Amino acid sequence: MTIKFEDITDHTGIIINNFDASRDVNDKKIFQIRELIQKKHFICFRNQNLNEDTLLNFARQFGTLESYPEKDKTKKNIQIFNVANVSSEGDHLSEDDPRVVLQKNNSRWHTDSSYRFYPALFSLLYGKEILPKEAVGGQTQFCNMLLAYDDLPKEMKEKLQPLHQVHSYNDIRRLEPSLPELSIEEKQGFPPVTHPLIRIHPDRNMTKSLFFTSNTSLEIGGMSFKEGKELHSWLVNYIENKKFHLTHDWQINDLIMWDNRVLLHRVIPYDYSKYRRAMIRGTVEGTTPVYGPFSQIN
Ligand SMILES: [Fe+2]
Repeated sequence: MTIKFEDITDHTGIIINNFDASRDVNDKKIFQIRELIQKKHFICFRNQNLNEDTLLNFARQFGTLESYPEKDKTKKNIQIFNVANVSSEGDHLSEDDPRVVLQKNNSRWHTDSSYRFYPALFSLLYGKEILPKEAVGGQTQFCNMLLAYDDLPKEMKEKLQPLHQVHSYNDIRRLEPSLPELSIEEKQGFPPVTHPLIRIHPDRNMTKSLFFTSNTSLEIGGMSFKEGKELHSWLVNYIENKKFHLTHDWQINDLIMWDNRVLLHRVIPYDYSKYRRAMIRGTVEGTTPVYGPFSQIN
């Protein structure tokens, strides 16, 4: 049976109801899912019943998976990233626990692993515990950066063309000073990198998108720190326009998958001490650096 889907908006997102990611994995269906995500960037698979192993097995169909040797992120498997205010043992963590502070930082626009030389390609996030219907917040919101680029004023496109943003795992501490210092190994494992603010997509006829994050560093290479922060704030404010957005309201047992090359995402803040929110993520590694307007691609 072929996969049936419904569009969420004309530019981003589809919902699939008739696919079981723990069982229906075959070449034909994976090919179809690849085609769908290339076109719409976000897929919600409803009614899944996954554990760490079956989530990773499905994610692996799309490429090599990222590992997370960093502290406090792994459960049984080093390729699982905990997106939770709940510990691996199931305890609801206090608001000042560094693991919860990192969750709060995720309410800033970002792509996963932008601080790596090859940022993540696809993320697959499975909702094990979600907020009750009456709660405020907890949605995952996305911003389509192909649209955001297209809509930029011409002068801003020109201004951004030669610029790169610094992405630094360590710089999260500038934004969230209560986080403990990184270990030497963590610092050495993830030195700062830069990526172009305008990203070229060779698999989309060299289309351009905006590419920046607000959960790591605010520095723009080639500008003073102050000037860079001002430009960065302008960009963050610019993408608040709802016409670029898709907001995912979680249902229990949703699995969502998105293309980090095209979409930024963030969690809408919620009452972290009142509600439990526990999700597990498998992440497909990027296969190329972020190509910019002046990259020699071939
Ligand atoms: Fe994320």
